[in-house]
Amino acid sequence: MVKIALIGYGNMGKMINEVSKSLPVEIVSRIDPNQEGCEKSITEASLNGADVCIEFSHPETVVENIRQICALKRNIVVGTTGWNDKTDEVRNLVNQANIGMIHGSNLSIGMNLFYEVVAKAAEVFSKYDEYDVYGLELHHRQKADSPSGTAKELSKILLKDLKNKTTAQYDKVDRKISNEELHFASIRAGYIPGTHTIGFDSPADTIELTHRARNRTGLALGALNAAIWIVGKKGFYTFQDFIRA
Ligand SMILES: NC(=O)c1ccc[n+]([C@@H]2O[C@H](COP(=O)([O-])OP(=O)(O)OC[C@H]3O[C@@H](n4cnc5c(N)ncnc54)[C@H](OP(=O)(O)O)[C@@H]3O)[C@@H](O)[C@H]2O)c1
Repeated sequence: MVKIALIGYGNMGKMINEVSKSLPVEIVSRIDPNQEGCEKSITEASLNGADVCIEFSHPETVVENIRQICALKRNIVVGTTGWNDKTDEVRNLVNQANIGMIHGSNLSIGMNLFYEVVAKAAEVFSKYDEYDVYGLELHHRQKADSPSGTAKELSKILLKDLKNKTTAQYDKVDRKISNEELHFASIRAGYIPGTHTIGFDSPADTIELTHRARNRTGLALGALNAAIWIVGKKGFYTFQDFIRA
């Protein structure tokens, strides 16, 4: 049994707690300063013997949480998004602490397979100049960051292979968009768990690829399987490293 501490007990923390019952893991601690019944801070005592921490909190709190977990020498799975600009700082923390960390903008197996489909589609469509490309993502109203980390990852994948696109444009565009910009729009409404569409548009037709999460179960299962995988490992891994392994 892998002993797990959940850092952040919101939507994802609760879903992981639920899904954990079907896997060889034990949730030994739930840490969230704002949720009733949870430990309030990350300490050796509150980790309660956990082997691995799973972090789903907030873009503003994630790096400090990682710092504290590094100091307590636990391996960690990070699901929180919105900290790309601090990647180097976090990699240094992990390497200095000599722990193992795995992170991903989307921890569902399905989305990671979708990444591969989109990479292949970009390679195919890049040979045909008449096709323009766009992205669209929809999430529930409570989501803290925009665009989603998954949208940024999809843009990265597309820009790698599309020879006519050089940058992603996420915000409202008060002008004509330039040919070399990939427009990726975000909608926040209701309860949508997460939908990402990539479109290829020509004068004759539109081809759309869509990943639509039905609920958060796939994300929770991915996080828990990543936690089992990271036990005993050292270094800074992506969820794609885990899928390939
Ligand atoms: N990688 C993926 O596959 C994936 C999937 C889903 C979500 N996400 C990302 O994961 C993060 C969490 O998502 P969620 O839907 O679970 O959000 P959520 O429902 O808002 O849950 C986050 C919880 O963390 C709490 N929190 C605030 N500060 C904290 C701290 N210092 N330490 C521990 N917990 C703290 C929040 O309390 P308050 O609300 O009171 O501040 C809340 O209870 C977001 O960044 C989201 O975009 C990633």
